[in-house]
Amino acid sequence: MSAKKRYNLAVMGATGAVGNAFLRILEERKFPINKIRLLASERSKNKKLKFKGRLHTVEVLGHNSFKGIDLVLASAGASRSLEFLPSAVKTGAICIDNSSAFRMEKDVPLVVPEVNAQRVKEHRGIIANPNCSTIQMVVALWPIHKAAKIKRIVVTTFQSVSGAGQKKIFELEDQSRAYLSKKKFTPVELPYQIAFNLIPQIDIFLDNDYTKEEMKMAGETRKIMEDPSLKINATCVRVPVFYAHSESVNIETERHISAKEARSILSKAPGIVVADDPDAQVYPMPIHCEGKDEVFVGRIREDESIGNGISMWVVSDNIRKGAALNAIQIAELL
Ligand SMILES: NC(=O)c1ccc[n+]([C@@H]2O[C@H](COP(=O)([O-])OP(=O)(O)OC[C@H]3O[C@@H](n4cnc5c(N)ncnc54)[C@H](OP(=O)(O)O)[C@@H]3O)[C@@H](O)[C@H]2O)c1
Repeated sequence: MSAKKRYNLAVMGATGAVGNAFLRILEERKFPINKIRLLASERSKNKKLKFKGRLHTVEVLGHNSFKGIDLVLASAGASRSLEFLPSAVKTGAICIDNSSAFRMEKDVPLVVPEVNAQRVKEHRGIIANPNCSTIQMVVALWPIHKAAKIKRIVVTTFQSVSGAGQKKIFELEDQSRAYLSKKKFTPVELPYQIAFNLIPQIDIFLDNDYTKEEMKMAGETRKIMEDPSLKINATCVRVPVFYAHSESVNIETERHISAKEARSILSKAPGIVVADDPDAQVYPMPIHCEGKDEVFVGRIREDESIGNGISMWVVSDNIRKGAALNAIQIAELL
């Protein structure tokens, strides 16, 4: 792709939480666009969405949606990506896919620009955007991995409802209102009440009793950091927060690294803001990270239970860096 050209874009899933962020971030970063096509399901046919001050009509996604399109930003779920992206690639478009459909395919690069930007060049039409929880964790861990080689990661996530799509945002609003006014309600979008509760299940359970989300974090991290020997144990929890995922991350490294050195490495790394001052009670929180582009790291401390260990707290906006922004950064690399 050339710097002077203006591109024809299709946003697949334009009416969703990530689709909406695509439109806002394309505007903010002045992405060079000639035409934009907004695609969604039959439910959104003829709906109008605002982009760059103009209303654009949503079209129903189909195999013929990609004629003349240079770049597809896909966020309409894995089954739509599996079904429609091959058609887009056939017409010559490059696709950046937010779903899990192609992430672990051998010939599909799985890219986080701060970590493995060079892999973008290897694409054969599709580039995969990792899972939101994976992206913010690898941005925070990659600089430490380069300095001290991480051997093992133990992570617990605290994932906001927006990570599960627009309808879950409404569900948390509705349930909170109902709960506080002592009205009865039945969870619709999530398996249990999420208002004033935590759900230690994201995605389905697999044969090993981990959830698919937890195993995605492990597999994707190994692929992005290009280290099959990396040991990862994840527990993923849905929390009653609207935007931004938080993660408690504990690592064991080959070389000893002090908290001071980790802080210094992270404060110079791209895409990271270190917010870490225990005396002043400074640490990242979802309410401060919502709407921001960076990955915020705090509570950096040495793990006193092992020789070479560091614990930290990592927060980032799942819709931006965890999805739309990362995909647009990939497009900018192209
Ligand atoms: N939310 C996150 O933090 C996040 C992070 C990383 C990756 N992702 C991934 O991004 C994708 C979208 O997530 P989201 O949070 O934006 O979900 P969402 O808010 O539920 O939006 C889903 C989008 O897909 C469209 N869609 C659904 N079924 C369709 C169909 N049969 N044909 C055409 N379009 C269809 C919807 O259109 P209608 O409005 O017409 O139904 C909507 O635009 C998912 O694959 C998700 O795993 C999300």
